[in-house]
Amino acid sequence: MSQEARPKVYVTRQIEQTGLQLLHEVCQVDIWPGEMPVPREVLLREVAACDGLLALVTDKIDEELLQAAPKLRVVSNMAVGYDNIDVAACTRCGVLVGNTPGVLTDTTADLAFALLMATARRVVESAQYVKSGHWRTWGPLTLLGADVHHATLGIVGFGRIGREMAKRGRGFDMQLLYCGNHRDEQAERDFPGLTYLSKAELLRQSDFVSLHLPLNAHTRYYLGAAEFAIMKPTAIVINTARGPIIDPVALVQALQKGQLAGAGLDVTDPEPILLTDPLLQLPNVIILPHIGSASYTARAQMSLKAAQNLIAALRGEPMYSCLNPQL
Ligand code: DGY
Repeated sequence: MSQEARPKVYVTRQIEQTGLQLLHEVCQVDIWPGEMPVPREVLLREVAACDGLLALVTDKIDEELLQAAPKLRVVSNMAVGYDNIDVAACTRCGVLVGNTPGVLTDTTADLAFALLMATARRVVESAQYVKSGHWRTWGPLTLLGADVHHATLGIVGFGRIGREMAKRGRGFDMQLLYCGNHRDEQAERDFPGLTYLSKAELLRQSDFVSLHLPLNAHTRYYLGAAEFAIMKPTAIVINTARGPIIDPVALVQALQKGQLAGAGLDVTDPEPILLTDPLLQLPNVIILPHIGSASYTARAQMSLKAAQNLIAALRGEPMYSCLNPQL
């Protein structure tokens, strides 16, 4: 097929090659070359002639963008989360939406567990202690932290990543609790001892609370002042889902008042976190720059699945994962 006859696709950042190669075989591809997200005005201009858009969590796909893109047939998000996309508006405009579940599950759970361990055992603080020349002797009371093994892990949202978190917790002999929209009897058979609780009871009983929810109108500020007030003062919160699932002001207050022992956050509200944010001053908080899925393998698979989703939609074939299959 001549270049001109191929569908036109815009990719909003340089992504891992696996998916790009596939796109180049089938489409006319333009890529935003910058390290920072494509500026909004550039994106609005670029989509005007596009049949497909490969987007990232940093791109807002809303009514305005859809109005600027009369030929657009598919938005393929290179992420499992899709809170950056107004899926209902896409559906109204006849635009298919894809995402990439499945290929980043274990990678994200690994990072969530790494954050849990690092926060509990003060790994970042301890490494900093050495680098800054404070290590002068073995100290019987130096840098004590919380045990992970045999502690109680409360998993909020028992989807793909929540389930993988449970596996990791089981490996550390943790007592596993979960809450969510519904009880999952299969999960309870798979993880003997896994206990379904109400949100409040899970928060009361957990030593670690790990969030694995999508961000939507129901989960925004899922953890706020009222929730922190009922948690153990020794508890640690882990968030690898989306920043706004936690009320950031309430989190700072809870940590400052000693209502909570620490937080491990791979996501913040806003992103990136402002350098003036008081969370950055707290030694018992570890903040990472949204790297849950950032392994070579996961990012290659995400790039491939996003490209496959986009091409399938343009060809009218079944997509790997479609968020508005009714179209
Ligand atoms: C996702 O996939 O939703 C992550 O947040 C980005 O990898």
